Amino acid sequence: MAYTTLLTDVTEKIATVTINRPEKLNALDARAKAELRDCFAALRNDPAADVVILTGAGEKSFVAGTDIGELSRLDAAGGKEFSEEGQSVFDAIANLGKPVIAAVNGYALGGGCELALACHIRIASSNARFGQPEVNLGIIPGYGGTQRLARLVGRGRAMEMILTGVQIDAQEALACGLVSRVFPPAELQPRARAMAAVIASVGQFAVRMALKAVNMTEEVSLGEGEKLEASLFGLCCGTKDFREGTAAFLGKRKPHFTNS
Ligand code: COA
Repeated sequence: MAYTTLLTDVTEKIATVTINRPEKLNALDARAKAELRDCFAALRNDPAADVVILTGAGEKSFVAGTDIGELSRLDAAGGKEFSEEGQSVFDAIANLGKPVIAAVNGYALGGGCELALACHIRIASSNARFGQPEVNLGIIPGYGGTQRLARLVGRGRAMEMILTGVQIDAQEALACGLVSRVFPPAELQPRARAMAAVIASVGQFAVRMALKAVNMTEEVSLGEGEKLEASLFGLCCGTKDFREGTAAFLGKRKPHFTNS
């Protein structure tokens, strides 16, 4: 499908979604959010896509936030709706059922930082900058940032970022666990693709069960999480991919997974 604000490509089981408003530093306007919703709904059911890379067009910005022009017209009732709608778009990414890697290639501010937080893995270029500057506009993060940032980097660090609106650079983001790797800008996209290719090369049933189990850490107690882990582990043991993976190891050959 052709989009106005997104570029999409699916090759070798890897989908790449690029937010493409570089003249506005890829700020998310209503159209971009609607297109993200459509695009991820299509990817959910696309058997050609096992792993998704989400990135921004240009060298300067991943996403510099929600479009402030649109934001400025909200009133109290509209603001609540606006927040709930954005949350549902980002929740659909977090709950895609397939891994989404955010390749953060520059500014990830406000809704841009929240978009990266909704992804399952975040890697960044060395020029990336992260922040939740909403207090400077008289608002708070409204697309899941108050919740996901605190869960990922801890309440103290999240509180500091959200209350001061300070931007942090890629190395600080790495140090606090906001991203898991930092690369020189020219290496970011190939490294994202290489990581996606590794994930796409193994049995996808196990990948999806792992995603489900780790995502559950936000919802349940350790004991409940372990019960779920055991159930999902059991499901994996019933697959042909499990037979193949173990037989290949024991037979000293490469596995051939069929996702069944
Ligand atoms: N919403 C709408 N437009 C935005 C935007 C946003 N969140 N972020 C950047 N833009 C636009 C600018 O208005 C400008 O448009 P123009 O050329 O038509 O004037 C264009 O993108 C380039 O941005 P500019 O500010 O000129 O670039 P810069 O390099 O000087 O500064 C930033 C970069 C990211 C520091 C700055 O754009 C900024 O602070 N953006 C807003 C960040 C923010 O508060 N996000 C949270 C929103 S909830």
